[in-house]
Amino acid sequence: MILLKKVLNLLSWQIMNNLLPSKVKLVEVGPRDGLQNESVNIPTDIKVELIRQLGSTGLSHIEATSFVSPKWVPQLADAAEVLGALDLSSQISYGVLTPNQKGFERALAAGAKEVAVFAAASESFSRKNTNCSIEESIERFKPIMKMAEENAVQVRGYVSCVLGCPYEGEIAPQKVLDVSQLLLDIGCYEVSLGDTIGTGNAGSTKTLLETVLSSLSCDNLAVHFHNTYGQALANILVALQFGISTIDSSVAGLGGCPYAKGATGNVATEDVVYMLHGLNIETGIDLPKLIQAGNYISDYLNRENQSQVARALS
Ligand code: HMG
Ligand code: MG
Repeated sequence: MILLKKVLNLLSWQIMNNLLPSKVKLVEVGPRDGLQNESVNIPTDIKVELIRQLGSTGLSHIEATSFVSPKWVPQLADAAEVLGALDLSSQISYGVLTPNQKGFERALAAGAKEVAVFAAASESFSRKNTNCSIEESIERFKPIMKMAEENAVQVRGYVSCVLGCPYEGEIAPQKVLDVSQLLLDIGCYEVSLGDTIGTGNAGSTKTLLETVLSSLSCDNLAVHFHNTYGQALANILVALQFGISTIDSSVAGLGGCPYAKGATGNVATEDVVYMLHGLNIETGIDLPKLIQAGNYISDYLNRENQSQVARALS
């Protein structure tokens, strides 16, 4: 009996390992999701230097800033200056958030080649974050999708509050599937599922992904975990087991959402890279250089680096 159990354990580990992707695309969201939430005003050249350092680590996707209303998020009011200081002809994709047509036009004028629209699986969060219902947000995105197609701009979609909402509590997985489907239907090439307040755990992530993947392909999905309850790495491992191979993360664990009270930092990119390399999953990222970039911004903010791997290795 003990021998049989041992054989079964070994077999299930091998099956699980074979299901894991061999390569993962990391979308670094620190300069956007991280810095949007800082209470101090960060000079443009510090943001640009952070992005430059991140670009030298091997990251292929870096979310640089947001063309949202500066009245709503003053921290990113310098979006055009930040994007203007980057080499937009390089191999790195510098995505930016655009909540409406005005934001898209500003992003286009600044040279953006990739944008992201963001919806939510919770009506209350949609109103607090973008001052409209979920349905109205999708309508707002339609002119963006048209202009994006005309200008060969790629559009990513986000769904917030997939594992809980600060205003409504639990969110039905079916609602997450429905909003994700709407974003793919209007032309997003990928939808990132955001655990905005970090309440998800391995069990609820599994339940969510069982529902979402009953209709959608893992090739069009990314996961975006915040680490409020310290569950993000476990949740990512579950997502990998479901075949998802695009992961959002934030250097030094920067982050939060100004319209989600209690949302702490995103999962730290350094911690995700360490876990992935331990699983022999290719990322193309140089961990020591990434740690340097995280220490650079943490030193500027006069704060301890929130990545445990960075702390252990620094
Ligand atoms: P509104 O107040 O309803 O907009 O905000 P409005 O259309 O009535 O316009 C009001 C004023 O803002 C006008 O100016 C507009 O011109 C201006 P005024 O006439 O008063 O001088 N305006 C803009 N200015 C610059 N750029 C723009 C823009 N739009 C309007 N794009 C709006 C609606 C969507 C604009 C607002 O609610 C907003 O900007 N919200 C963004 C909030 C945000 O950035 N949240 C964080 C990002 S989401 C997130 O972090 C979650 C995520 O990480 C995933 C996860 O973790 O789950 C993605
Ligand atoms: Mg986020």
